This record gives sequence, C-alpha cells and structure tokens, in this order.
Amino acid sequence: MAQQPYGPLRSFGRIKARPIKSRQASLLETLLPRIALDLSRPIDLLALKPDATEVWLEIGFGGGEHLTAQAERRPDVLALGAEPFLNGVASALRHIEAASLTNVRLHAGDAREVLAALPDASLDRLFILFPDPWPKLRHHKRRLIQPDLVAELARVLKPHGRLRFATDWANYADWTLERLTGTPKLVWTAQKADDWRLVPADHAPTRYQAKKLGDIAPVYLEFKRTSAP
Ligand SMILES: C[S@@+](CC[C@H](N)C(=O)[O-])C[C@H]1O[C@@H](n2cnc3c(N)ncnc32)[C@H](O)[C@@H]1O
Repeated sequence: MAQQPYGPLRSFGRIKARPIKSRQASLLETLLPRIALDLSRPIDLLALKPDATEVWLEIGFGGGEHLTAQAERRPDVLALGAEPFLNGVASALRHIEAASLTNVRLHAGDAREVLAALPDASLDRLFILFPDPWPKLRHHKRRLIQPDLVAELARVLKPHGRLRFATDWANYADWTLERLTGTPKLVWTAQKADDWRLVPADHAPTRYQAKKLGDIAPVYLEFKRTSAP
C-alpha cells in the first residue's frame, strides 16, 4: 500500500465497492467540484459561508444521511464532511441535490487532510458516528481514534465546542473514552447513564447504525472542549 502523508495506516477499507449509478456518477463530475473543499491552502471558512452561525464537521459520513439531515435542519450552519468511500460521497451528493442544500462542503478523502487545513479553534461541532470498529486486536491500530487524531480534534474545536462519538461496539466505546478523557482539553459531558445511553434529541440515524452489526446498543459519547488555550 502506498504511504500516506500522515502515516502508513488507513483507517478506512474500500474506496469504491459497487458500480456507481449513472445519476450519481454525473453528480460526482458536476456537483462535487462545486462543493469540494480546496485543501491546497488553509481553509477560509468565512469565505465558504460568510453568514454561518456555526461550523460543523462530520468525519466518515458514509452515505451522508446524518450530514445532510443536519444541514437541512440547520441552514445557518456550514456543514463540512469528509469521506473517502466514493459510493458514499455519491449518495451524499444525491441527498444534497434532492434537498437543494447550499451549506454543505465535502472532501472525498481522508478527514485528516481536512483537519490539517483547518485553523485552530474553528469548529463548533464534530461528529464521528459509527466509525469502522476494526474489532480484531491486530487491527486496533487502524481505528480512527488515535492520539494524533485526538490532538487534532482538540486543536480545531472552539472552546466549548462539542464532539459527538457514537458506536455500537463496547470495546471501541471503552477505547475512545480512555483516549478522549485522557486529553486535558476535552471533557466528557455525561452526568448520568442516560446521557450516553439515550439517542440525543438532535441525532439523525445513519445507514451503518441501522445494520446493528455491533455487540451493544449504540452509545453516544459527547465531549466538550475546555476553555483552556
Ligand atoms: C462504518 S462506516 C460508518 C459511516 C457512517 N458514519 C454511518 O454511520 O453510516 C465508517 C466510515 O468512515 C469512513 N472513514 C474511515 N476512516 C476515515 C478517515 N480517515 N476519514 C474520513 N472517513 C473515514 C469509512 O470510509 C466509512 O465510510
């Protein structure tokens, strides 16, 4: 496998699976270039949506069900998304077109490239929903939640900005709690079990979540960036 600029390991599996339907293929050619993030320079968020009240990023949006549902509910938000799986990007483009969304920008690639192009303290919310669990012990090193990424998440969140992580794998929930609560700039906001056990009021269900492949009911871990510099 080719070496990636951020390290040798990919946190994702296939980049393309089934053939892409012709309408979606045409959206990849026409719509994607219009809303793709330019990562050749630091991202100028104000230029992307000058009237945005908040900026959100979803890492690994899959088919884009959650990203586009949130963008539709909150037209005042600039909703960024990163996903290397091309069939997923194509499906998200279909949702974006169907709902005539103008507040979504995508990167059809690794979210770590988006994070690297974001200024410090620039995001209000981050979503990592049902990331690839890599359940086998020898594959844990492929999990998205790794110290370098966690440091980047803390860097790009604004003070009091929030990160939501959801999984239906017990070991990945424990793994993530251990790593995120070990980051001085992030605080787990849960006060009681219902805070991580119940579906958050503003959640939109995802395609992967519906497959129920994990070993527990979904948990929703919400973290807040402290105000410390
Ligand atoms: C298990 S799927 C879940 C997709 C979606 N969040 C859902 O719940 O339906 C995990 C997704 O994360 C994507 N992914 C993995 N590593 C990534 C990375 N470094 N940057 C962006 N996306 C990534 C994969 O391509 C895959 O589509």
